[in-house]
Amino acid sequence: MANDVIIALDFPTREKTLAFLDRFPAGEKPFVKIGMELYYAEGPSIVREIKARGHKIFLDLKLHDIPNTVKRAMAVLSGLDVDMVNLHAAGASAMMRAALEGLTRPDGTRPLLIAVTQLTSTDAAALKDELLIETPMAETVLSYAKNAAASGLDGVVCSPLEAALVKERCGENFCTVTPGVRFAGGDAGDQKRVMTPEQAGKSGCDYIVMGRPITKDADPVAAYRRAVKEFLGKAA
Ligand code: C5P
Repeated sequence: MANDVIIALDFPTREKTLAFLDRFPAGEKPFVKIGMELYYAEGPSIVREIKARGHKIFLDLKLHDIPNTVKRAMAVLSGLDVDMVNLHAAGASAMMRAALEGLTRPDGTRPLLIAVTQLTSTDAAALKDELLIETPMAETVLSYAKNAAASGLDGVVCSPLEAALVKERCGENFCTVTPGVRFAGGDAGDQKRVMTPEQAGKSGCDYIVMGRPITKDADPVAAYRRAVKEFLGKAA
């Protein structure tokens, strides 16, 4: 599984996003994540523009709808030549299998397909009292991960603290994409369960997603290189 640091481009406009990317030297092209804010603001053109600059892209739109709708939407996203997309495992196996079909290009290639299990913002009380799920959170997350693996998906988004367990249950090749990564002594912000890049690397995380510790740093290029060095144990 290819290990990498993915920078979350949580910016509201094309201008701010490109100004951030322009800080990197021409030959340095980090893997980036485009989420709902930027995609809904700028549409598919921002994906094409960043791809044309040579970046790998994780398009984080978390699809969740009936199988046919997700299949057709995934075919559109796959046509944008992104490298990784995601959906909610709560859409269940039929939706996940349809998503895979839609994603697969005529030449047989496709972006990696990753499942969101339970959102990290959902706590035990909401799980039980609002979603009416009596099974404890950890078991729910692992069960969703197993459904995703059985449906042929490539991995899940999970907290760095869950990565090792996901690997144990779903297999070493099932990939883990983990936000909630912070430098030692850094500001955790609204992330509750955090690990450093080095700890994440040792805990079975295949990809770490870092936003603010890189984008808000006075020297984002240095912060990105530090993250890569700590995560992979070598220079960016
Ligand atoms: O700034 P920060 O490093 O917290 O950014 C983490 C990124 O990962 C954000 O884009 C956030 O939306 C995303 N994410 C997350 N937790 C999840 C799923 C996605 O923080 N469970």
